[in-house]
Amino acid sequence: MPENQFKEEEFTTQFNGKTILRIVAQLKPYWKKVILFVVTIAVIAFLDSYFTYLSKRIVDEGIVPKNMDAIIHVIKIYGSLMLAQAVAVFGMIVITGILGEQIHYNLRKVMFENLQNQSLSYFDKTPVGWIMSRFTSDSERIADLITWGLLDVTWAVFNIAVSLLFMLKINWKLALVVIAIVPVIIIVAIQFKKKIILEYRNVRKINSKITGAYNENISGVRIVKALRREEANLRKFGTLTGEMYEASYKAAWLSALFLPAVQLLSAFALGAIVWLGGVEFNLKLMTVGGIQAFFSYVTFMLWPIQDLARVYANMQQSIASAERVFSLTDSVPEINDRPNAISVPSIKGDIIFKNVDFHYEPNNPVLKKFNLKVSQGETIALVGPTGGGKSTIVNLLCRFYEPKGGEITINGKNYLNLTLQSIQSRLGIVLQTPHLFSGTIRENIRYGKLSATDTEVEEAAKVSGAHEFIM
Ligand SMILES: Nc1ncnc2c1ncn2[C@@H]1O[C@H](COP(=O)(O)OP(=O)(O)OP(=O)(O)O)[C@@H](O)[C@H]1O
Ligand SMILES: [Mg+2]
Repeated sequence: MPENQFKEEEFTTQFNGKTILRIVAQLKPYWKKVILFVVTIAVIAFLDSYFTYLSKRIVDEGIVPKNMDAIIHVIKIYGSLMLAQAVAVFGMIVITGILGEQIHYNLRKVMFENLQNQSLSYFDKTPVGWIMSRFTSDSERIADLITWGLLDVTWAVFNIAVSLLFMLKINWKLALVVIAIVPVIIIVAIQFKKKIILEYRNVRKINSKITGAYNENISGVRIVKALRREEANLRKFGTLTGEMYEASYKAAWLSALFLPAVQLLSAFALGAIVWLGGVEFNLKLMTVGGIQAFFSYVTFMLWPIQDLARVYANMQQSIASAERVFSLTDSVPEINDRPNAISVPSIKGDIIFKNVDFHYEPNNPVLKKFNLKVSQGETIALVGPTGGGKSTIVNLLCRFYEPKGGEITINGKNYLNLTLQSIQSRLGIVLQTPHLFSGTIRENIRYGKLSATDTEVEEAAKVSGAHEFIM
């Protein structure tokens, strides 16, 4: 696993087509819902643009020629379409919510399943916080991208496309002006959003450092006082809050600049429309309602453009999240059953460690040519200094790890030829540090054998000498 994947906030990932495809592939099992989702969004986007077109008709066919019947006619269409729009919006939100939860559910399940199958060595190498964030923020970010992100993009693309079609229908020359300006606005908006996101990420990073500093200073207050570290700590803290101020200021500044910049660009489009529209109007090539509709289209288009920019800018982070989640679901457990492993009904016989070599980290050998024989029925104790390798021997025996050299045999057979299940289900182990799972004591005792009867559970408690203090 690459080292940089442990750095939570850093992300060096660029757009990666393969990962995007894998993210989208999460939708495959729900393709029917996805189609429904796209159709409802298309309907909504079409209606959004059509309403503006209807307003144009009200002006041109009703208000300008003072024709009340035409106004009423168009308003009736307007009203019934409003109803359709409301239903479609409701449907879209429901479908998106359900899709998001299903994808999130699936991801969590796959991740948990994979995690359970990992060997202990995986947990040695992988920090808990790293795994936790895969389960929480990363999987959520993926689910968000393929639902709400997809919703925003689909809606924005349909909306812009349908608006442009209506504009082309009303006046193609003016529409071409808008078509030329829209990409510029989109690019500027994306650049802005990217910078804003980077700055906010910076703010979050510094914020977590500040939280860490609070935590250390409050929980270590006695040491701070005893060593008279107050002044030094205050100075250090001052540097952090100073950085925080700078970063927040920059983020706020960019955010404040974003909307005016985009609006300014669209003002160019509006200016061009007023000018060209006026000329066309004088030539009787365009109506008042038409010019007004153009205004509405361009003004309203700022929303989908902002949505597009936001999703695009966030996508980089979602891709990084996806890569981290996939790296978890892709990692293959180091310890697995060998292809022809056999399952034995019972394990009896001598246990022999023959010239066993073992290390957790390659440059740090723990066992070298280690030999041990435990005869059947024998009771032995391993005694030695801390870090001497006692727990390691037990870990190897349980096959939580496998020898790097030499072999371990049970009843004369190399235990690598047995299935993990047949070895581990026949071992009892009392850990150095006991761990209780949530639930009752009875449930905890039953943890290793779910089919155990109450009597068996009580029997086990008595045998281990725990019955007395439980009762
Ligand atoms: N998961 C691990 N990753 C890396 N090194 C480890 C790991 N577990 C143990 N070690 C190292 O292996 C050596 C043997 O450790 P082990 O836990 O087997 O000792 P021990 O005899 O059980 O000690 P103790 O009496 O403290 O329980 C030590 O140097 C320890 O630092
Ligand atoms: Mg130990």
